[in-house]
Amino acid sequence: MAILPGDGIGPEVTEAAFSVLQAASERFGLSFDTSSHPVGWTAVQATGSPLPDATLEACRRADAVFLGAVGHPDADGEPPGRRPEAGLLKLRKELGCYANLRPARIYAALQDQSPVAPERVRGTDLLLVRELAGGLYYGEPRGWDQAAGRAVNTLVYTRPEIERIARVAFELARGRRRHVVSVDKANVLDVSRLWREVVTEVGSEYPDVRLDHMLVDRAAMELVIRPAAWDVWLTANLFGDILSDEAGAVVGSLGLLGSASLGDGVGLYEPVHGSAPDIAGQDKANPVGAIASIAMMLRHSFGLGEPADAVEHALERVLGAGLRTSDLLGVGGGETVGTRAFADAVAGAVRGQG
Ligand code: IPM
Ligand code: MG
Repeated sequence: MAILPGDGIGPEVTEAAFSVLQAASERFGLSFDTSSHPVGWTAVQATGSPLPDATLEACRRADAVFLGAVGHPDADGEPPGRRPEAGLLKLRKELGCYANLRPARIYAALQDQSPVAPERVRGTDLLLVRELAGGLYYGEPRGWDQAAGRAVNTLVYTRPEIERIARVAFELARGRRRHVVSVDKANVLDVSRLWREVVTEVGSEYPDVRLDHMLVDRAAMELVIRPAAWDVWLTANLFGDILSDEAGAVVGSLGLLGSASLGDGVGLYEPVHGSAPDIAGQDKANPVGAIASIAMMLRHSFGLGEPADAVEHALERVLGAGLRTSDLLGVGGGETVGTRAFADAVAGAVRGQG
């Protein structure tokens, strides 16, 4: 397992998540070989590159990669190759991680935390399947011609790219409520029209799964009005990035969401939140997203369903007992704790003492 703590709150949520993994390892008699490597702004400062070759090689050799977060305000004026985000994007691409799973489920104890009324948010259990290795993030040509006052990015998808991500969504829907909504902008974008055609074709191989198409602006609205109505949303890279922050807010905090990025080989696991430099190093960050990512890693990369369930149940128990990091202190009281104390409580619950 390659561990890339990264920037800002990355290292502290990583440490918290691995203390929970340690508890699960003890309880289930598991052991993992781990090594830690720089990525993001931390890596730029140490080596000049946001994804040093040694880090990439270690990730290639690993069965799974865990990443905390990347991003730093000091990097704002840097050229593209020295930006922390460039390291993450290159890592996803090089590892072939094209399918990004971002589940957004409402924890029973947090229904009052949502900005959406409890009766609307109750039962929300959405799986966003975001295409992660193509689209506007990677299309060529791209660039900023300062002198000409012109910048360009390219939105491009090919049939094979759409087919493989669509298959992931339909397969996952089979293990859930058998409903896929493909989110696009087919009323404006040619790429979305191709997307819609290919997703429809792949969908015909899954007659047991219902398929609907929805325009992305409408989807942004539906997520707030009717979050509990949806099962699997399949969408392109940029739309998935935007909708997953919204989904995080709907279930109470972006700090709650974990993610798995799967593809040809090694899996990459990261919380959906960013590096939050404003609270870094203060023991305030919410480690739930990182801990949930550990559960996804156990399940998807190691086939360890029971330990994964134990970690997820422990999260539910600790939130149910009223423990909250400060991002969750909107409504309904509860006890505010720091990152470490929260993780200790989850680790305790995993060990069966919680
Ligand atoms: C995410 C993040 C990244 C993305 C950034 C840090 C490059 O926002 O994982 O959602 O846009 O994919
Ligand atoms: Mg994002």
